[in-house]
Amino acid sequence: MTTSFDYSPYAVTYRERAEYVPGVVRALLLTAGARPGDPVCDMGAGSAHLTAPLLEYGLRVDAVEPTPAMRAVGERRTAGSPDVTWYEGTGEASGRPAGHYRLVTFGSSFDRTDRPAALRETARILAPGGHFACLWNHRDLDDPLQARIEELIHERVPGYGYGVRRTDQRPVIEESGLFAPPVALSGREVFRLPAGPWTEAWASHATLGEQAGARFGEVCDAIRDLVHREAGDWIDVPYTTRAWVARRLDPHGTDAHGALPHGTDADARR
Ligand SMILES: C[S@@+](CC[C@H](N)C(=O)[O-])C[C@H]1O[C@@H](n2cnc3c(N)ncnc32)[C@H](O)[C@@H]1O
Repeated sequence: MTTSFDYSPYAVTYRERAEYVPGVVRALLLTAGARPGDPVCDMGAGSAHLTAPLLEYGLRVDAVEPTPAMRAVGERRTAGSPDVTWYEGTGEASGRPAGHYRLVTFGSSFDRTDRPAALRETARILAPGGHFACLWNHRDLDDPLQARIEELIHERVPGYGYGVRRTDQRPVIEESGLFAPPVALSGREVFRLPAGPWTEAWASHATLGEQAGARFGEVCDAIRDLVHREAGDWIDVPYTTRAWVARRLDPHGTDAHGALPHGTDADARR
């Protein structure tokens, strides 16, 4: 099943969201044994928040994105790079060739898929020994200002929840039977950000938008007023980037010998 959620209403402001913690992206690439020049497929690439650091690392990226408005933002952002090609597709039906990629990534998009189907599609397009990775940025909800934002949301959207985007991804990866036990990575960083764009970016928060419905505008306005009152022009936002990385098992059962073309798991420990 393909579950392509329409991100069009969120595309314009999505670009303003915080970047992934760079150390976690680096650790993810080390764990996957990715080397400059390797082919990577970035699923649900959207406005290129993950595609951009993958390109900076020297990887050759096929960016797959189902929503035209998001793809347009990502294409503009990466227009200067000769190493990226954009495709229409989903995590479940990417249209990309079998057995080709060193790494398949889902930056804040794995929760938008039928995850078992997306894992099957990932296993199909990975080269032997290749890796799957998914990651999200989580605001630290214990931070006093972020806690007040949460309160404000819950007052207006009773029962508000984050769905699978804040849950442990290990069970679904392990249950697929297609990957070795995943490595979980996380890193926290406080981003000092201009308050205006940060509050505007709430309009790109699809998880909140879906649940707030007609009250979405009101919630975003209340967050903007609170942040301007409490933080002024700049806001310090603690984010934890959480990632799960898993090696594709060899479908022919010779996996125990771990014959990877390069960049074995041992590289990650160096
Ligand atoms: C929260 S955005 C993340 C964008 C970007 N990867 C990032 O790291 O910021 C989620 C993206 O997933 C896309 N998406 C929705 N359904 C999808 C599916 N079934 N497969 C892959 N991507 C999907 C959306 O269009 C959107 O661009």
